[in-house]
Parts: sequence; structure tokens; C-alpha cells
Amino acid sequence: MSAPAHPDSTDLDRIHAAVKREKADQAPSNAPAPMWAIFLLMLVSIIAGGQLGGNTGSLSFNTSNPFPAATPADDVRPGGSGAGDALDPFALAMKKGSSGYAVCGGCHQGNGNGIPGQFPPLAGSEWVQGGTERLIRVAQHGLVGAITVKGQGYNTPGGMMAFGAAMSAQDLANVLTYVRNTWGNEGTMITKEMVEKVRSEEKRATQWTEADLKPFADKNVAGDIPAGPGATAAPAAKK
Ligand code: HEC
Repeated sequence: MSAPAHPDSTDLDRIHAAVKREKADQAPSNAPAPMWAIFLLMLVSIIAGGQLGGNTGSLSFNTSNPFPAATPADDVRPGGSGAGDALDPFALAMKKGSSGYAVCGGCHQGNGNGIPGQFPPLAGSEWVQGGTERLIRVAQHGLVGAITVKGQGYNTPGGMMAFGAAMSAQDLANVLTYVRNTWGNEGTMITKEMVEKVRSEEKRATQWTEADLKPFADKNVAGDIPAGPGATAAPAAKK
């Protein structure tokens, strides 16, 4: 029976082997960064600087605003600083009418084509381009029952509501001028005075029907269309 190796001697061998494998601690060094790293940094700086310079003003950043605010003169927003003074009356009505049209667009659609079988089109409609007496009445008091637009029949339950109480004469005039002169439509301008005239003459509490409106189909409200380049360019009402 041989004596086992002294346990301490095997432990010592193992510990020394481990110490020999260990690397010395890295001391902080003052050696300069390698040349290739310095050149790489310089190259990146030169390319980046060139890009920056090329995409801005010479020696300064380009701070010009590519989206300038509307000039006050044709700013027609309610809180805007101008009152659209630079626009002639027709252009002003069209601009205001295009935003006012939002109240109609939900049904008659942004493209004026309506929804087949449900909401009749305003684009190309004889109701829109025809007599202003009839068009103002439709918007003022609403419309219900079977109607024909561009040869197509419509009879949407409930019809169209009245807008007279909800909209000022000026707002209604702007929207009606807009629908008469958008999507290829052509019609004279409708003024606030024309809407007021119909309002004072027509006290009606219920929606119109097509038959009721027949006498007004081709009649235009008498009234002056304001002078101005856009107003005179707006063509006379079609039948
Ligand atoms: C809630 C949906 C709705 C809204 C909003 C609406 N309409 Fe109508 N409109 C109708 C319907 C429905 C008819 C057809 C009524 C019928 O069948 O008798 C109609 C008919 C018309 C007509 C006659 C037919 C035609 O297509 O030319 C005109 C003009 C008209 N609307 C203009 C307007 C204007 C202007 C506005 C905005 C001020 C407006 N509508 C807002 C639903 C709407």
C-alpha cells in the first residue's frame, strides 16, 4: 500500500500553473494612437465637413424657412392677421368657401361626386349651376323626397337638412359660390346680399320638395356681383 502523494504538493503545482497562465496587469500607456487611426479620423472629418458645408449656406447654417406663413394679405383664416385684402371678392369667396365646404363634403364628398344612390353629386349638377333662387333655397331650408340629378333618381330617407339657421348669409354665399365654380362647374358668384334677399322673402319651416322648387329652377336672384378680376371672369349662370 503506497502512501498517497502529499496533498499540499499537488495543490502547489496547480496554483503555480494558474499564476503562470495569468497575464500581467495592463499599465496605462502614454503611447500615441496609431497613425492609421489618426488618418481615419481626419478623413471622416473632411468628408463630414464637406457635406455640412455643401448643404448649408457658405460658412453658416441655412436657416431660411421652406414653409413660410401665409402672407397676411391673403390670409383668410378666422384668427389670421389679414382679411384677405389682397384678393378680389370672387377669389376671396372661393378661398373661404373651400374651407366652408367641409360641412357639405361629408355627404357630397370632397370631389363633389356624392355617393351613388345616397348623396347626389354637386359636380356637374344642374341644381348647382342653375337658378340661384333654387340653389339658395335648397341650402337654406333643405330638400326632401324624390329628385333627379344628372338623369339619376335620388330619394334618401330624411333628405337634406336646412343650413339656414346654422350658417351666416356670408358663409352660405361663400360655399355656394365655391360649389358653383369647382370640379368644372361654372356659375355666377352668389353674394351675401343675395342670400339675405331670399332669407327675407322666404320664411319656410320645412324642407323643400322638387315640385315646390320648380318655379325657381331657372330663376336668378337679382343683385350686383361685385366688380373684380375674378368676379367678372366667373361666367354667367347656365340653365
Ligand atoms: C347629411 C348629408 C348632407 C349634407 C351635409 C349636405 N347635403 Fe346636400 N343633399 C343631401 C341629400 C340626401 C340630398 C338629396 C335630397 C333628396 O333626395 O331630396 C341633397 C341634395 C342637394 C342638392 C340638390 C341636388 C344636387 O346634387 O345638386 C344640392 C344643391 C345640395 N344638396 C347642396 C348642398 C350643400 C351646398 C351643402 C353644404 C352647405 C350640402 N348639400 C350638405 C345630403 C346632404
